[in-house]
Amino acid sequence: MAIDHHHHTPPIHGVSTLRVLPDEGGMRNWDRIIVDAKIKTRLLSHALLALAHEKEFYALPGALQRLVILSGPPGTGKTTLAAGLAEVVANELAEKGDTCLVEVNPHALPSEMLGESQRNVARLLDNSLPELALRYPHVVVVIDEVESFAVRRSSASFEANPIDVHRASDAVLEGMDRLMKRSPNVLVVATTNFPGAIDEAFTSRADLVLSLAIPDLETSAQIIALSLVELAGIWEEIGDLASNGDLHRQLAELCVGWDGRQLRRLPLKALSASKELALNPGKLKAKHLFQAVTA
Ligand SMILES: Nc1ncnc2c1ncn2[C@@H]1O[C@H](COP(=O)(O)OP(=O)(O)OP(=O)(O)O)[C@@H](O)[C@H]1O
Ligand SMILES: [Mg+2]
Repeated sequence: MAIDHHHHTPPIHGVSTLRVLPDEGGMRNWDRIIVDAKIKTRLLSHALLALAHEKEFYALPGALQRLVILSGPPGTGKTTLAAGLAEVVANELAEKGDTCLVEVNPHALPSEMLGESQRNVARLLDNSLPELALRYPHVVVVIDEVESFAVRRSSASFEANPIDVHRASDAVLEGMDRLMKRSPNVLVVATTNFPGAIDEAFTSRADLVLSLAIPDLETSAQIIALSLVELAGIWEEIGDLASNGDLHRQLAELCVGWDGRQLRRLPLKALSASKELALNPGKLKAKHLFQAVTA
């Protein structure tokens, strides 16, 4: 469980973070992810449609599913963007009341046993989340790595008892349906890096499935730039590197196929390559960044 004194961290099984938004963290997660503007626009518009008109849609049951799926390879920003969505939604809807961000992480569930986690999921979907939905005007639930719950029945792995797998995914699906009916002010954002493993019954419940991809050249350069700009905010001497667009592009050309996480960490990788830089990050030079690409 993340210990962060800005966040409430109540002991709800499977919940790794709970944030009441807007908060002093602002839109740090949303702003930090660089993707095609169309993806952010689609995501935000869908969330606002779902959450700003709960009463109207309550009168039209089934018209709108309040489930969004973000899929894509590891390190492409799914989890960060999902949390960031709650931040912008909270900002947009601030006049109508707070937004509670609930991050559900299957690995935060105490048991690895499917049978046990099935009960935990049911408890989460039937008790904890509806209770939060009564306390907060808007709730955004991020279910990270949803494939761990909603395993496609037809390809359940041999290690797990297939009957348990069926039960676990049924429990999620039925629990989701009950949650959506009971709590119209809840939006669920599920992330997965293995869309093939998610149950069709789950994906068909989503009105919006967005795929994030490995960043293209221009985006990669921007991610490297963002990372350097952040460091330059602490060590001013790095300012020249942070504003050197040619450098960012040259580096990006050498990092074809890198995911967002790797690109983002490149400057830190360079800093951790030597004792001198580790102690004096302000001494970072372009050559260190190039060395870090191939290190
Ligand atoms: N498109 C991007 N722009 C900027 N930063 C990015 C991008 N993609 C990933 N990152 C950075 O990489 C790190 C990992 O991102 P995140 O955990 O959101 O990815 P993920 O897709 O959920 O990965 P995983 O599938 O491994 O859970 C974060 O620090 C994030 O800021
Ligand atoms: Mg993730």
